[in-house]
Amino acid sequence: MASNVDTAVITPSFDIERVRQDFPILSEEVYGKPLVYFDSAASAQKPRAVIDAISTVYETEYANVHRGVHYMSQKATDAMEAARETVRSFINAGDVREVIFVRGATEGINLVASCWGRQNLTAGDEIIVSIMEHHSNIVPWQIIAEQTGAIIKVVPISSDGALDMDAFSDLLSDKTKIVAMTHISNALGTVTPIEEIIRLAHEKDVPVLVDGCQAAPHMTLDMQALDADFYVFSGHKIYGPSGIGVLYGKSALLEAMPPYQGGGEMIDVVSFEKTTYADLPFKFEAGTPHISGAIGMGAAISYINSLGLENIAAHENDLLAYGTEKLGELNSLRLVGTAPEKAAILSFVLESVHPHDVGTILDREGIAVRTGHHCAQPVMDRFDIAATIRASIGMYNTRDEIDTLVGGLGRVQEIFG
Ligand code: ALA
Repeated sequence: MASNVDTAVITPSFDIERVRQDFPILSEEVYGKPLVYFDSAASAQKPRAVIDAISTVYETEYANVHRGVHYMSQKATDAMEAARETVRSFINAGDVREVIFVRGATEGINLVASCWGRQNLTAGDEIIVSIMEHHSNIVPWQIIAEQTGAIIKVVPISSDGALDMDAFSDLLSDKTKIVAMTHISNALGTVTPIEEIIRLAHEKDVPVLVDGCQAAPHMTLDMQALDADFYVFSGHKIYGPSGIGVLYGKSALLEAMPPYQGGGEMIDVVSFEKTTYADLPFKFEAGTPHISGAIGMGAAISYINSLGLENIAAHENDLLAYGTEKLGELNSLRLVGTAPEKAAILSFVLESVHPHDVGTILDREGIAVRTGHHCAQPVMDRFDIAATIRASIGMYNTRDEIDTLVGGLGRVQEIFG
């Protein structure tokens, strides 16, 4: 997804004013000023359609799922399984059994690292990650590496934040057992050449897990075309509820893996002599699931579909290009992450001003940005910085809001001389 505005084509169905009206929170004021929300990479705001879908669950179709013969249980089960089908279609998975509901991307990665890792990793095996992974795609692999004796190999990036593909190719070897890679960096906005990464890994029969947290809200996904072995994303970043997410896995891999947690829902028959497990996807969904979360996430996807993800992407790319240009005009501001392929994220530092001070001053102007290491400390170390200020773009942001951000940064510069 390039950030070139000239190529962006937004069809008339994407009416930014109408989109903004769909998000009730955008009418809120912060310290008497309109909320300018540039923190969608941390968590996106929710449209009325999602809020209403969650209310509808509790008002008209709530009971536990997959357990009851009674009407309400059946209705809730049907709604939840319809949401699973909505997810399947959203990512073009070949089979709805390959869509596992998890708490979020973090749980999805932990599940794969633990269940696939315990079964497939031994001492000396290598796991490839990149230096710009979120901690969620580092720490689970460190835990399983410690338990199995596997070794983590790290792909570097160039100074603009692009993945070093030569280094990736060099690291891929007969010792490599899995590649775990982000699709879009949450700290830099870099879009990785994930198709190429998967192609190269598959040439060596190495499976690939993709952290798609930042990609799912910004680009069309097609699991069958991508050929990813595992792909994870979170509901709350695609304008749905928190506490729900998706682990996509190829059925052959998921079927071969042991369960993650034991409990209700994931069993076939339980006895003290021998317990057998349920078929996919339920084998990996122990306990009562996040019923309203799954249905709410389905509603978020339907909302995205109603606007067209390609329209959303074109709108966001326009803002990314505009924001890059406007921030570039500010003295003493340095963008961190300027890879040619970027999406939705403006990460930067201001000379001699701590990012937290910048965030605090912007907050008083009603502008929400994230400051800190963004749960990606290794990539901060790569740039020899402790933190950045990150303005992340969602479907509801506008050029006017970019101007407000630039004005707020001007105010920071006045205060700090
Ligand atoms: N992963 C989220 C972020 O980037 C929380 O802010």
